[in-house]
Formats: sequence, structure tokens, C-alpha cells
Amino acid sequence: MSDKKKKNTPYRPAVLPPEVREGQSVELLKALHILTRDGQLNQDSRRKLKQVYHLYQFIEPLLQELADAATPCTLADHGAGKSYLGFILYDLFFKQREIGHIFGIETRQELVQRSQELAEHLQFPRMSFLNLSVEASITSPDLPAQIDMVTALHACNTATDDAIRFALHKKARFIVLVPCCQAEVAAVLRQHKNKMLGQTSLSEMWRHAIHTREFGSHLTNVLRCLALEAYGYQVTVTELVGWEHSMKNELIIARYTGQRRGNARQRLLAILQEFGLEELTPRFLPEMPAAAQGEQEAV
Ligand SMILES: C[S@@+](CC[C@H](N)C(=O)[O-])C[C@H]1O[C@@H](n2cnc3c(N)ncnc32)[C@H](O)[C@@H]1O
Repeated sequence: MSDKKKKNTPYRPAVLPPEVREGQSVELLKALHILTRDGQLNQDSRRKLKQVYHLYQFIEPLLQELADAATPCTLADHGAGKSYLGFILYDLFFKQREIGHIFGIETRQELVQRSQELAEHLQFPRMSFLNLSVEASITSPDLPAQIDMVTALHACNTATDDAIRFALHKKARFIVLVPCCQAEVAAVLRQHKNKMLGQTSLSEMWRHAIHTREFGSHLTNVLRCLALEAYGYQVTVTELVGWEHSMKNELIIARYTGQRRGNARQRLLAILQEFGLEELTPRFLPEMPAAAQGEQEAV
């Protein structure tokens, strides 16, 4: 190796922790503070790496399916934060392929800038970071009309709902969500609690304050799944095991099949009515432009 090349090659310790995978960028892991300067695993970040690897196990076969079907493999990651997920996906999957582009959507400008700089530094050219809310990204000219996969990992409150709306508009083939707590449904349950206590014994499910919060959160994810089924997605809900320290470990994976589940829309509307949540109908059954409702090719 020439001296010049040696100088430009980042230091790679001879022995790396077993968590670091073949071909993975040590420089990236250091920049994300997953590895310390001397290449050891940062104990505080071990959990984050484990979480993202675990999620990768679910995402990688879906990306491979997209690649096999010769789709452009565009991915939008909503509420990207420091973009751990986007960077690890790029490093493990996109880097060695000539296809694909990852867009990180994030409202905090400093995180967007930091991610942009890191992508440039690592020479990850097919990564872009946009300082936008999820909602604004739906109509942003900086994103393509079609996005193949949408991810949202702990995107706050209703940002997950906006990510679903984004995915519907962009005709995403796959949607991978690990929701954060959503406060809106619980707030409406709380607001109508007295009235509902007189109307239905089901209101016992959310009479106590802690139940209002937890039941609201659970109901939100139930409504999200029904909405996805109503729009032609097949939905799998599972636990993101390995997240033993996280309360928010529900993983929702939706695959576009074009087959709308027969009674999903009706069930969703019935649940909204039974629980006094009718005002949230546009949240869970958003109006879709005709173009976005048209048939898309299922993978
Ligand atoms: C809990 S962090 C999760 C970050 C990252 N996905 C992860 O798991 O490491 C949530 C991120 O979503 C961003 N965020 C919250 N609401 C948003 C919105 N409406 N649009 C875009 N980003 C949002 C926050 O600024 C924050 O960085």
C-alpha cells in the first residue's frame, strides 16, 4: 500500500468486537459513537446497535425483494434523528449495490446537517437528509413521486400517522413502523370520558388515567393496522424482541398487495364510533388523491 493511501485509510483495529460485521465501516460506527476511538464497543450505544441490527433482520429481505424486482429501491426514513437506521442500512445493504437512495426526514436542523456532513465524509452519495416535517415531506419537490419503502422508528406522536399518509401518497411497497406513543387518541378519549362512561361499559377500558394512556396507545396501533389493510396492505404485527429496555417495541410491517381487506374500513369506522373518536376519522382514513389511489404493482 502506498504511503498516501495509508495516510487516507482510516484506522481499523486488528480485533474488532464481534458485533461489527464483515465490511462494515468502522469510521461510521465511530462517528455514530457506537465504537470508541480505539475501536471498542461503546457500552451506552451497544443497545442502539442491537436494536438497529434487529430491525435490519426484518428490513433486509424486503430490500432484497425490491432489488430482485428491479425497483429503484428508494427509502424514506421519517423522524430520522441521528439517522442510525439510515446509515446502518446504507452501510450494510446499499453501499455494495449500484441501486437505491435513502432520504432521512427530520425536523431538527442540526441533526440534518450533521447527517449530511457524515454522509459526505463517508462518501455515501445516495443518502439525502431533508429538514422537513413528515407532513411537509408528502408534497415536497425534493422527494421523488414514488418511494419504495418507508420506515419510521420511534417517530414522535402523530409523525407515524403522517408517515403512513406519506407512504400511501408515495405508493410505498413496504412500510416498517416502530411507533412511539401517540397522545392524540388518548387525549380524545380523555376529553369524552364522562360522556362515554354513561354510554358504554367498554369505557371501563380507559377510565383510569394510566389506562387512558395505554389503551389510547394500543387503540392507535389497532386503527393504524386497519387503515393499512383498508388501503391494500397486508399487515404483520410483532414484537421487536431484543428491545428489552424499551417499552415501545411494537413492530408493524405492511406489504402492498392491492387487496383491500374487505371489512377493514367498516371496522375502523365502527371502532371510532364505539369509542367516541369520530373526529379522528381523517387522521386514520385520510383523503387520498386519485393518482395515489390507483393500482400499483405489488411486489
Ligand atoms: C425518538 S427520536 C427517534 C430517532 C431515530 N428514528 C431513532 O430511532 O434513533 C424521534 C425523532 O423524530 C423527530 N420528529 C418528531 N416529530 C417529527 C415530525 N413531525 N417530522 C419529522 N421529524 C420529527 C424528532 O426531532 C426526533 O429526532
